Amino acid sequence: MKLDKGTQGPGLVLRRVAMTATAAALSATAVFGGGLATAAHADSATLTGIVLGVGADETQRVVSWYSSAGTAQVVQVAPTSKVVDGRFPANAVTFPATVTANVVNGGYNAHATIDSLKQNTAYSYRVGAEGNWSPAYSFTTQDFNGNNLDFLFFGDPQIGSSGNVAKDGAGWEDTLNVALAANPKAELLVSGGDQVESANTETQWNAFLASDKLRQYPWAATIGNHDVGGKAYEQHFWTPNTDRSAPYYNGSATTRSGGDYWFTYKNILFIDINSNAYASGSDAAHIAYITDVVNKHGAGAKHTVLIYHHAIYSPASHANDGDNKVRRQDFPTAFSKLGVDLVLQGHDHSYSRSYVIKNGQKANKDEQPGATEVSKGPGGVIYVTANSASGSKYYDLTAPDTTKDPNYGPDPLNPKSHWANSVENQEHVRTYVRVQVRGNKLVVENLRSGTCAAPNAAVELGQESWCGPDSGVGAAQPVGSTVDKVVIHTNEGKAGEEDKQAASESDWLQ
Ligand SMILES: [Fe+2]
Repeated sequence: MKLDKGTQGPGLVLRRVAMTATAAALSATAVFGGGLATAAHADSATLTGIVLGVGADETQRVVSWYSSAGTAQVVQVAPTSKVVDGRFPANAVTFPATVTANVVNGGYNAHATIDSLKQNTAYSYRVGAEGNWSPAYSFTTQDFNGNNLDFLFFGDPQIGSSGNVAKDGAGWEDTLNVALAANPKAELLVSGGDQVESANTETQWNAFLASDKLRQYPWAATIGNHDVGGKAYEQHFWTPNTDRSAPYYNGSATTRSGGDYWFTYKNILFIDINSNAYASGSDAAHIAYITDVVNKHGAGAKHTVLIYHHAIYSPASHANDGDNKVRRQDFPTAFSKLGVDLVLQGHDHSYSRSYVIKNGQKANKDEQPGATEVSKGPGGVIYVTANSASGSKYYDLTAPDTTKDPNYGPDPLNPKSHWANSVENQEHVRTYVRVQVRGNKLVVENLRSGTCAAPNAAVELGQESWCGPDSGVGAAQPVGSTVDKVVIHTNEGKAGEEDKQAASESDWLQ
């Protein structure tokens, strides 16, 4: 086991203070965590819906779950190397959970933050209390100081939207299996929103959470329009640094879910906003939130990634929705000025990758459709929309229509496509997006996780009449093949300097 040698970058002082405080908490809880005390007894509580979530940074994870009882509960954690025959060691660490009565569907929800993780370590954890533990699950941390990070982005699983929860769940589970078999070292699973079709329907949540992959890799939840109409989303996912002020809900905070949140992971700043709230000044409030987070936490960040559900440069059915037209005016200039590098979006169940967009305009009129390498330059932002990760529902690409939005017309270089997008794609097969951070480069790729064969609910159920590339005319492509790949240079186009820097960084890491 390789231990963290304490070589930290910026934030060293703050982190040490936090670790000291946590260490005190650990010594207090470790006593009963080792099974010596009776402080936390859940007895017969039924523990379900366990999900590993992101914490405030790479040294944390948040575990959330449902419990049938409101008894005191914990997350117990130990290095996997110390767990023998399923027995956690006497000095396993426990993190007390906050247990709260559910607003809907009865029962309770619990969450606890696991803190002070070391890099390059496999951990095992379980939730509950002495005498009533959940099964044990495991996760692995990686280098905390590197300039490389792989994460995966998933659009609209929307379990239940085909009308068949089992088929939607099967497609979702298969995409997770395929994606993580191909990318076992991915460090984050990032949501594009719409986890389920109906906000408070627990059978859909159960299917969404069925895969153990969601207990092994941290899920960065994003709220979609299908999740927002009830409290189950908030009951299932506890997120770090969450601002639950009124402008970040659309409607009552007592009956709906919402909030904006942020976290850092290694040297990337992630900001996740609730795009359901956009009217009545909410867009301005989101921009103020993002501005505040960037000002306070962006200084040490190499890249800033913004995540929300409603794609503004939609390629398909939602391209000219009323809210979309407003946001296309409200957001892009602010994002450019704030130094956002990459925007990850969902909602349109089809894939798009924008040109480099600066202040709401194409930055370089000569950038070619489908270019495989682009240089971002100051103020340049790439917007990606994810296709369905589950196969529960696809939307077909739509032709640009200036009668609906005069500001979202055709691309002069590729008139069937909207002017903002370098690539638009829909094949009615499941896909996911891989982002590889490599120093100053971001490699963004849309990969097929399924074929036209099952599990592919919308196709299986006859809701799509064709499947495959080029509206079903093209040859079928295998699982793992690439729909689109772009290398984004984020250092204003000085490719030579960037490569030199990336090389020296990786030398230093060896
Ligand atoms: Fe949606």
